[in-house]
Formats: sequence, C-alpha cells, structure tokens
Amino acid sequence: MTGPRPADGGTGAAGAPSHTGTFGASGIIRFSSVAKEYPRTGTALAGVSLVVAKGEFVFLTGPSGSGKSTLLKLVYMEERPSRGEVRVSGVSSSTARGGDIARLRRKLGIVFQDFRLLEDRTAEQNVLFALEVTGAPRAGMHAKAARALTQVGLASKGTSLPRELSGGEQQRVAIARALVNDPFVLIADEPTGNLDDRATRGIFQLLRDINAAGTAVVMATHDMELIKRSELRTIELNRGQVVFDSAADPAAGGGGAR
Ligand SMILES: Nc1ncnc2c1ncn2[C@@H]1O[C@H](COP(=O)(O)OP(=O)(O)OP(=O)(O)O)[C@@H](O)[C@H]1O
Ligand SMILES: [Mg+2]
Repeated sequence: MTGPRPADGGTGAAGAPSHTGTFGASGIIRFSSVAKEYPRTGTALAGVSLVVAKGEFVFLTGPSGSGKSTLLKLVYMEERPSRGEVRVSGVSSSTARGGDIARLRRKLGIVFQDFRLLEDRTAEQNVLFALEVTGAPRAGMHAKAARALTQVGLASKGTSLPRELSGGEQQRVAIARALVNDPFVLIADEPTGNLDDRATRGIFQLLRDINAAGTAVVMATHDMELIKRSELRTIELNRGQVVFDSAADPAAGGGGAR
C-alpha cells in the first residue's frame, strides 16, 4: 500500500488514459505460454501467448468450452495459470497478492452476459456501488455516476430498477458501472449474448465509442456477423489453444496492433 503510486490526476483528461503498461512497447495484457488446468475437467487453456496493446479492441471467439471465459478470468485474476505467466498492467500472476489484485480490479471494467446488477438498487445506485467499493471519495460520486450513465445513453433512467429496464438498458447500466472508475481496459464476456440484434448493435457501438475514447476492450463473443462486419483484431480459441490471431496475419484484415 505504501509503494510509489503513479500520479493519477484524479479525473483523467479525456482521451488521455493515465494507466499504461509497464512492459513492452505498449502492451497492457501479456500471456506467456499460459496453461490452465481445472482439477476435475482438465485442460482449459494450453500454450497461450498473446499481447494486447494499449487502446486496442480485440474479439475473442471460439466454440463453447474453448476457454474464452477462462482466458478473461486470468486477465482479471480470478484464476491463476497452472503454468506460464499473465501480466496485466504490470501485475504478474506469478507474484501478485490479494492487495495487488484488488488494485488491479479497480482499473479494470468487467461486463458479463447476465449483467449481474443488484436487483434492489436503482441504475444510479448500481453505478455508485462500484465507486463505494473502491473507497473513492464521497464528494463527487453522484456526479461521476451521472456522467457514466450519460455516457451509456441512460441519463434519464438513473432512478429505474433493473426490472424496469430492457435487457439492452440493463447491459448499459452494467457498462456504466464498469466505466465509472476510468478503467484502462474493459473486459466483456459475451456482453450481447442475451440481447436481440438491435440491442446487440447498440451495445457494440457503445463499446466502439468507449474504445475510441482510449479504453482497450477485450470482448468474448460467438457473434460471427459482428466480427466479420467490423474488421477488428480477432483471436480464436479452440480446445484451449489460440488457433487464429488476425494481428499475426496481416492478410486477414484484422488490423494489426491498432
Ligand atoms: N471453474 C471451473 N472448474 C472446472 N472446469 C472449468 C471451470 N470453468 C471452466 N471449466 C472448463 O474449462 C473449459 C473452458 O471453459 P470456458 O468457460 O473457459 O469456455 P468458454 O469458451 O467461455 O465457453 P462458452 O462459450 O460456453 O462460454 C471447459 O471445458 C469447462 O468445462
Ligand atoms: Mg464463456
């Protein structure tokens, strides 16, 4: 807790995220020969090496059971690799302790397919909760929450309960909650998996806008249409291995590092 901390600048100037990796040219996530084995089910990931650069947008795809959620859990360090190393914003899976992981999570936004909102709290209270748990100063909390809700297009829905919102709106609240702490990366595990086409497009556009403002996005999805249309970097898993990475294959039109 007492080590040197980067000057955060508090609010973070628009378009200039203050969190940068401490390794590589601009890598914020690095997997080096990562394997993950679960006690009863065996190998979930094997020999995974990849780098995600600052500000990048990356699709993570592959069949059910191929290891997408496991890979994302390793990024936010809910799971540790069985072999190899995961480094995220300078935090290493080999040495990270509870406090390091808690600090890392404050700089990560995480969004799930099933939204995971607190059902008995309003949209605004859900967003405020994400600030409260990080021990942010109380002053200015409401303004921050309101700003995040405005950013996701829900300025007028702050007092609605989750059950009073559509699926797409609930996911927007979840994204506002993920954004309110100014993350350097947004991790989204099938964020559109429960939504219809129209809501899917809206959420995807929102993630693109968030990315355009400087936040890296790693999004797991089965939606091949979305992937094909958007020509963003795509990493495909199969049986726990990276079988395709468009950044490593310029002919694939994945756009390389940016
Ligand atoms: N907590 C766990 N304990 C044991 N095995 C697990 C655990 N989580 C995942 N697995 C196993 O690891 C493998 C990869 O699962 P994972 O959830 O990462 O796949 P996925 O690509 O996200 O699939 P889906 O598209 O269905 O979400 C599967 O074989 C799964 O059974
Ligand atoms: Mg999954």
